[in-house]
Amino acid sequence: MQKLRFDAAHETKLFDVTWDQDRATRLEPVEFTKLLREQVPVLEFVQWEIKEVDLGGAETILPLNAQSTNQHFTHQAALLVLAADYTGGVALASLLTGWPVLGVHPVASRYSVSMWLLKVDIKFLRPSVADLTVTAKIDPDLHERIQKRFFEGKTVVETINIEFRNGDTPVAEATATYFARQSDKLRAEGISTERVNTLYQLKLTSSAEMIAGVRARETGKLFDDPYAYHMAGQHGIAIANRFCDRTPQLGGMVAARTRHLDDTLRNFVRAGGRQIVNVGVGWDMRAFRLDLPAGVKFYELDFPTTLEERRRRLAQQEVVDRPGITRIEAPIDLRTMSLADVLAGQIDLDQPIFLAWEGMSMYFSEEEVLTILKGMRPLLRHPDSLLWLDLVDREPVETPEHFPTPIQQFMRGMRVLGEPFTFGVDDAEEFLQSAGLRCLEAVRSDAYLSDKDDPVYSVYQFCVASRAAGPAEELPLTFQAARFDGAETGVGVPHFTLNGHVNEIGAPMRNGVDSLRNLTEYPRQPR
Ligand SMILES: C[S@@+](CC[C@H](N)C(=O)[O-])C[C@H]1O[C@@H](n2cnc3c(N)ncnc32)[C@H](O)[C@@H]1O
Repeated sequence: MQKLRFDAAHETKLFDVTWDQDRATRLEPVEFTKLLREQVPVLEFVQWEIKEVDLGGAETILPLNAQSTNQHFTHQAALLVLAADYTGGVALASLLTGWPVLGVHPVASRYSVSMWLLKVDIKFLRPSVADLTVTAKIDPDLHERIQKRFFEGKTVVETINIEFRNGDTPVAEATATYFARQSDKLRAEGISTERVNTLYQLKLTSSAEMIAGVRARETGKLFDDPYAYHMAGQHGIAIANRFCDRTPQLGGMVAARTRHLDDTLRNFVRAGGRQIVNVGVGWDMRAFRLDLPAGVKFYELDFPTTLEERRRRLAQQEVVDRPGITRIEAPIDLRTMSLADVLAGQIDLDQPIFLAWEGMSMYFSEEEVLTILKGMRPLLRHPDSLLWLDLVDREPVETPEHFPTPIQQFMRGMRVLGEPFTFGVDDAEEFLQSAGLRCLEAVRSDAYLSDKDDPVYSVYQFCVASRAAGPAEELPLTFQAARFDGAETGVGVPHFTLNGHVNEIGAPMRNGVDSLRNLTEYPRQPR
C-alpha cells in the first residue's frame, strides 16, 4: 500500500494528491473502517463497515447481528443515527481531498479537518430485518462549492441525504447536516474573546484537562498534586484514561517533567527568585500546591477563554491563594503576541524571572517556537533569570518509522488522538543557542524513569536555559545543577545529557563545568 500522505509530519501541502491516490490511501474502505472502529468502539461492536467511497458519496453496511438487534427493534433507531452520522461524514470527507479528519485519521501536522454533525433528521419507514445498506450522496453540482470553501479555509455547513435499505426495501431516510473546517482556521487570532469557536475552545480546554487528568493518575509518585483530579473534572479524567491507554508512556513523561520543573522552580525560589511566569498555564496548580515563601508572584498566561475557565474551576473547587502568594493573570496568544510585550510594565526585569514553558513546544512549528523564544528573551535579561522548557527529539517526530516499535506506536497514538508532536530538536543546546539562549541543563525523562525500560522516555528531555552570554559567564545563582538525588527520586542511576553525552551523576565535569563544585561554592542568595 502507498504511504499515507498524512503520515509525514513535515508534509504540509496536502492538496496536490489526485483523487485516485486519495481513494487508495486516506479513503481506502478497509483502512478507513479500521480507523473509525478504533476511535468509536461501538462501530466495532456492531461491525459497521465502509463498503465503498466515491467522490461525494459513501456506502456502508450496518450488519444484522446479535449486537444490532434485540428482536423487537427498539434500539435500532439509535444505531441508524450512528450509521447515518458516519456514512454522511465519510461522503463529505471524500470531497476534502488529502486532508486527514481530526479524531479519525492520524494527524501529523497542524493541517486537519475538524468535522462535526450539527443535526440529523431521520424518518423510520419499517424495522430493519437484514443487513442494512446505508448510502450517502452529495449532489455533484455542490462539490465544487464545498471544496472551494473548505480549501479557502472557510466554514462548510452541508446537509447530506442518506438512505437505508434492506436489499431493495427502503427502511429509513435521513438528512444530516455537518460542520467542516480546517482545524487551524478555528482558532481566533489574538486574545479577542469574541467568536471563539466552540470546537477550538473545547480542544484547548481538553488539552489542559487531559494533562491535569494525567497528573491525577500520577500524583504521589514523583510529585503531589491534590488538586489535579478535581481540576481535570470528569471529562479530563476520561480523556487522560483514553490517552494513557493508547500511549502508556504519557503518565511517566508528565510525572517526570512535573518533578523536574518542580525541583528547578524550588531551587530558583530557594536562591531568592520571586517572579514565576507560567506560560500556557492550563490547569497547572503550582501556585497552590508548592510550599513557597511569601512574596512569590505567579504570572499565569494562557488564552483569555482558558484563563476564564480556569478561574471558574478554581472558584468551583473553592481553591484559595496561599498566604503571601500573588497570582497575576495575563491573556496571551503565543502565536501572535510577544511574551515580553504582554508582561511589559507588570514584571520587574531587574529581578530574576523564572519562565516555565511546559508541555507545549512540541505542538508548534519550528518557526513559531523560535519566535516565541525570541519573545521570551527580554525577560531573561537578569543573569539569574531562567527558562524551563521540555523538548522532544526531531527524528522520532519526523520519521518514527526509523525507531523502535514503542516510539512508532507512541507517535502514532498521539497522531490518532489528534495531538501530534510537530516539532523536535536535533541538539537542544544548539537549538537554544540559535534562539539566543544558553542551555544550562538537559535531562532526559528516563533519568526519572529508569525502572521503566522504554525508548520513548529517552527522546523527551527537560531543559533549563538562561540568556546567552560570554563564555566566561558564571552560572546563574538560581540554577542548581546536579540537584538530582537518587534517594529523593527513587531513581537508580540518574544521568544528565548535554551535547549528546551522557554523564552519570557525580561525574566531575559537565560540559566543562564542575557542577558539584558550583553547588557548594555559590552562596544561595540572589545577586
Ligand atoms: C497541554 S496544555 C499544558 C498546560 C500546562 N502547561 C501544564 O503542563 O499543565 C497547553 C496549554 O497551552 C495553551 N495554549 C495553547 N496554544 C496557545 C497559544 N497560542 N497561546 C497561549 N496559550 C496557548 C492551552 O490553552 C493550554 O492551556
